[in-house]
Amino acid sequence: MTTTPIQSNSSASSDTNVTQDIYLGIDSGNGRLKALSSNGYSVRIPSLLYFPHSEISVGELDNESSHIVYAGGSRSDLWGKQWVVGREAYIMAPDTHISTADDKEAKAKYCLELLLGAAAQVVKSEKVELTTAVSIHDKGSFKDEVIAKLEGTHRVGLNNFECQLTVKVKSVVDEGVGAYYELLSTGKVKKSNTALFLDIGHGTIIISVFGNGELKFRKAYPLGVAKLYGAIANNLQMRKALKGIPGNPELIKAGIERGDFIYGNNPRLSFNFADIYKAELRPWVSDSLAKVLAATQQWQNEATHLFCIGGGVNLPGIKPALEKKAFECLENSEWLNAKGLLKIAQRNK
Ligand SMILES: Nc1ncnc2c1ncn2[C@@H]1O[C@H](COP(=O)(O)OP(=O)(O)OP(=O)(O)O)[C@@H](O)[C@H]1O
Ligand SMILES: [Mg+2]
Repeated sequence: MTTTPIQSNSSASSDTNVTQDIYLGIDSGNGRLKALSSNGYSVRIPSLLYFPHSEISVGELDNESSHIVYAGGSRSDLWGKQWVVGREAYIMAPDTHISTADDKEAKAKYCLELLLGAAAQVVKSEKVELTTAVSIHDKGSFKDEVIAKLEGTHRVGLNNFECQLTVKVKSVVDEGVGAYYELLSTGKVKKSNTALFLDIGHGTIIISVFGNGELKFRKAYPLGVAKLYGAIANNLQMRKALKGIPGNPELIKAGIERGDFIYGNNPRLSFNFADIYKAELRPWVSDSLAKVLAATQQWQNEATHLFCIGGGVNLPGIKPALEKKAFECLENSEWLNAKGLLKIAQRNK
């Protein structure tokens, strides 16, 4: 296989020749990387990476996939390397891709690889100054490593577009800080309030408590929505429908996110699994959500606001259960962290 040559951009429109200043907020989740850019892009791509052993050629990619070639620059360990981020990483290597959910250090280890995956969707100029704010699950442990890995000048091919990207890190914050900052900046909470966030993510459920502008408490439980998808995959009715084989969590996720509960893409083979979802939702709520809430009861009484964020808020049937427990499910729950991170990146610009 051969690498698709990086195209010279000389034929591109003249605005590609000026240095473009871009601010980027990146929420790198276990399931998906969410990023918002100051030039108006929303990036939502699976947190998957694939480093091919030999050179590859990629055709036209969708907006959930990026192909990066690192031609040169500050990261000498990446010189000459190429990788794929997002959906295409799963398609190219269903069994051997890297998921940032697999390894606690992966989000820090691959932070530049992931950032460039997001940048490929937003960079439209040959020379870019990119100022970013990123979140990490343990700022204390990983902040220095993340800054060292990200900052510098990188000559890269981003989906076959050759450019030079200078990365500056405005801030590395703990996950959840972005959402808090967003609500502070929109006046939804005041600094003097105590706000508790329940973040229902793909890999984790995280409780964060903020007050006086500070993170007061944070605990992550590995009980996210992936557990629900796993339970549905192994449900007896599912295995019966698939002649003894467990379901594919990716197809289950797709059916739930579309809201039609159709399993699979082939109309001749697909079936509706709404009943299986209903049967498995209740045990997941009581084993995961309820357990996390019970463990943080003291903070719920202390807090003036209880907010629910993360993509899991969109699971059909979940909102009434959370509202019964006095939680407010916020609009655009999946994007709140990235929204706040973009504002942090733009602070005092
Ligand atoms: N519209 C939707 N309907 C149903 N479920 C959804 C919808 N959108 C997202 N989800 C689900 O919400 C879950 C959490 O998504 P989110 O993007 O918050 O996770 P993450 O940030 O990648 O993971 P983590 O926070 O654990 O690192 C995912 O499992 C996803 O399938
Ligand atoms: Mg998340």
